[in-house]
Amino acid sequence: MERGKFITFEGIEGVGKSTNISHLVSSIEAAGHNVIVTREPGGTPMAESIRDLVASHGDEAMPDVAELLLVFAARALHVNNVIRPALEAGSWVVSDRFTDSSRAYQGGGRGLPADDIDLLADWVHGDIVPDLTILLDAPVEIGMQRAGKRSDPDRFESEQSEFFERVRLTYLQLAENDPGRFVVVDATQPMETVKMAIDDIGRALLTD
Ligand code: TMP
Repeated sequence: MERGKFITFEGIEGVGKSTNISHLVSSIEAAGHNVIVTREPGGTPMAESIRDLVASHGDEAMPDVAELLLVFAARALHVNNVIRPALEAGSWVVSDRFTDSSRAYQGGGRGLPADDIDLLADWVHGDIVPDLTILLDAPVEIGMQRAGKRSDPDRFESEQSEFFERVRLTYLQLAENDPGRFVVVDATQPMETVKMAIDDIGRALLTD
């Protein structure tokens, strides 16, 4: 059985991940592949509970290291219970966020050491690395403006723009360091143009 492909979408809030994930998934399905669409933190019942813990405003302080370990605990569940079995069964997996989010948010945003994050990544999912990562990029003001329309901002959405500037720069740096895995799409373009870019990426992926 040929292993399925693993594709991840990344970007700050408000860049249009959900719409573009649906679009890419339609192309993959139209080509006859089975696709699992999932997200992080989350993707399994227990990992979704961890998502609630990490994203909600609790009464207790959340040390940065606890945040990092929680997103990786959720990832361990997600990889072992969903992602790896699906890929091994030949399904494709498209995930809204994966470890690059930890590098960008906990590394860039919170300032935790990149080496510690890489060590956890290696430990938790050394053999599972995305075949392709689509980074939807937009300036922070634009992302925040779009995301700001949502009600009840969570713990991350409540961060200041400086935090998201660091997150965005880390993403762009990751993409620059690994051009074989990342494709950066300018998410400030009109929706139809972004869709066309996603179509081109889908075509390249499906003929690969
Ligand atoms: P979203 O998927 O709806 O954008 O929300 C998930 C939030 O969790 C988002 O603000 C980014 C954050 N996050 C991290 O900080 N680290 C991680 O490893 C992941 C997967 C998400």
